[in-house]
Amino acid sequence: MTPSQPPGQLPRQVMTQTLTSAPSDVAINGRAISLAWPDGLRREFPFAWLRDNCSCALCRHPGSGQRLLEPSAIPLDIHPSELRFDHDCLLVAWAPDGHASSYAGGWLRRSARTVRPEGPRLWDAGIAGELPLAEHAAVVGDPEQLRRWLESVDALGFGVVVGVPIESGEVARVAELFGHVRVTNYGRVFDVRSVVEPANLAYTPLGLGPHTDNPYRDPVPTLQLLHCLSSSAAGGENTLVDGFCVAEALRADAPADFALLAGQCVTFAYRDEGAELSASAPLIELDPHGAVRALRFNSRSLQSPCMPAPELAAWYDAYLRFGRMLEHERFRVRLRLEPGDLFIVDNRRVLHGRAPYAASAGERHLQGCYADIDGLRSTLAVLAREHGDD
Ligand code: FE2
Repeated sequence: MTPSQPPGQLPRQVMTQTLTSAPSDVAINGRAISLAWPDGLRREFPFAWLRDNCSCALCRHPGSGQRLLEPSAIPLDIHPSELRFDHDCLLVAWAPDGHASSYAGGWLRRSARTVRPEGPRLWDAGIAGELPLAEHAAVVGDPEQLRRWLESVDALGFGVVVGVPIESGEVARVAELFGHVRVTNYGRVFDVRSVVEPANLAYTPLGLGPHTDNPYRDPVPTLQLLHCLSSSAAGGENTLVDGFCVAEALRADAPADFALLAGQCVTFAYRDEGAELSASAPLIELDPHGAVRALRFNSRSLQSPCMPAPELAAWYDAYLRFGRMLEHERFRVRLRLEPGDLFIVDNRRVLHGRAPYAASAGERHLQGCYADIDGLRSTLAVLAREHGDD
């Protein structure tokens, strides 16, 4: 496929543009239009990508900005039949569909900058001196305080609110400051306190090692909130661990173990009278670039892994090593929750646990709910827009 107008025949004004957003060089390179700017920025725009990103009223809905063009409507041999610049806009006549597109120089330049999202800010026990903490009255009454708190929750994977009214259901109202409660078989909110004949060890006074919640769901709830309603029992301190930080330490110290935990699926399951839940996934889930995307770690619901014997032994070596690292003081933050304190965790990243407590004297009663990170990030983005961060 050859464009009908090679770059050498482009109008002279293409080469003499002085606007900062206007490219100084335009060329066809294989199946892409190559643009270069005076400051050295260069980028190739594949023909199909440019055609797909046409912003005319036939291709984008003027009201919503959503794409009207279906991929099936773009010819596989799409290519420019004519190419020129006019007033800082790249004008393209496409063949064989005959469509005409106009691309603003500033939009092309912004599109040329591939910004890789910043990785998460990893933390260890040292963060105890600078906990992301907010007053309930402030996040309820001041959108800017809410925005700052949500920003730190998103960056660190956890946050604390103090001064939450000590009333049943308040935990859901905190979740509704930024999103929607995720209802599960445990209900809209659930009470964490010791009960007779518990279906879940959370409802005993036993200590719980660092874990993520509900790995037996697909998808897992991505946020968990726990609100302290009473804490007169001795013990029961909560612990938080940045699982992403520990996973990176494992990757550095024992890359083969990291690869095993990231490469083998295991099954988590939960059953009680009214539920039978099961999901399979690796303990360490990676994104296509190899960055840690999510952890599932919960010894209570892990099922016997099913692998050939040599792999199983190696997987267990890795699992035990990772489990020890997660318990190490170097990574662990301790929180003694008082009535009115609430913490939120990104359940894919930050593991929570608790020390055992004495159920015979005093009371420990937390109320929890689940929510999802997309709602939090949406609220954060809307608040940032209103704050003028766009
Ligand atoms: Fe939990």
